[in-house]
Amino acid sequence: MEATETFKNIVNNRRSVRAFLPEPVSESTLHSVFATAQRAPSNCNTQPWEVAVASGNAIERLRKLIPEAFAAGQWTMDFPYDGKYEGVYKERQHGAAAELYGAMGIGREDKALRQAQFMKNFEFFDAPHVAFLFLPEPFGIREAADLGMYAQNLMLSMTAHGLASCPQTALSFMADLVRRELGIGEHNKLLFGISFGYEDTNNSANKCWTDRAAVTEAVSFHS
Ligand SMILES: Cc1cc2nc3c(=O)[nH]c(=O)nc-3n(C[C@H](O)[C@H](O)[C@H](O)COP(=O)(O)O)c2cc1C
Repeated sequence: MEATETFKNIVNNRRSVRAFLPEPVSESTLHSVFATAQRAPSNCNTQPWEVAVASGNAIERLRKLIPEAFAAGQWTMDFPYDGKYEGVYKERQHGAAAELYGAMGIGREDKALRQAQFMKNFEFFDAPHVAFLFLPEPFGIREAADLGMYAQNLMLSMTAHGLASCPQTALSFMADLVRRELGIGEHNKLLFGISFGYEDTNNSANKCWTDRAAVTEAVSFHS
């Protein structure tokens, strides 16, 4: 079926892109992207997502302030960052890092280059836009799942519109700063951000493609 192929192509073509062109996305495309994402499902259709998109002067201010705040150790996170990856999860984490740094020709021991690449998170990988995804208080893990579904809808919508994206937990490390700069209320808690725009296809960071475990490792069918 044509729709099946189209859907598979969109899903398979979405990947985390870590270098963008400076060209901004037009207002009409932005509207279409976000209108489609809005169709995400949620518990009782509560739609517990609050999204702030920074572009133009707003993103340029953040691009300057966030790296400065990070360097000064001024972190504020709304959600704990305490996940410990063990066993297969650790292997996959290392596999993803090896893919990225391998594509960029950065060796295991090259800590300075790895750190420099990590710091690009705080400059939104030069993207012209970033969407910050907030979970309003007092929501918790179930509503965070709704926010995750919204985020995937949003990124697939971007892919379908010819845009690229990178979801970033790193952007949640500066929750207070982001709220202050964008005038977001204290009750909105920052879970992560998504940098987006047009892919810089010449940048080696974007030669990275991650793989996935076999379906049988993740799904068991019962009858
Ligand atoms: C919630 C979430 C947070 C992420 N945070 C970061 C991040 O801070 N920086 C980064 O470079 N990639 C980040 N990623 C991207 C993952 O590394 C990436 O999704 C994973 O390696 C699979 O690769 P793919 O997205 O290219 O398919 C994040 C992904 C998700 C879903």
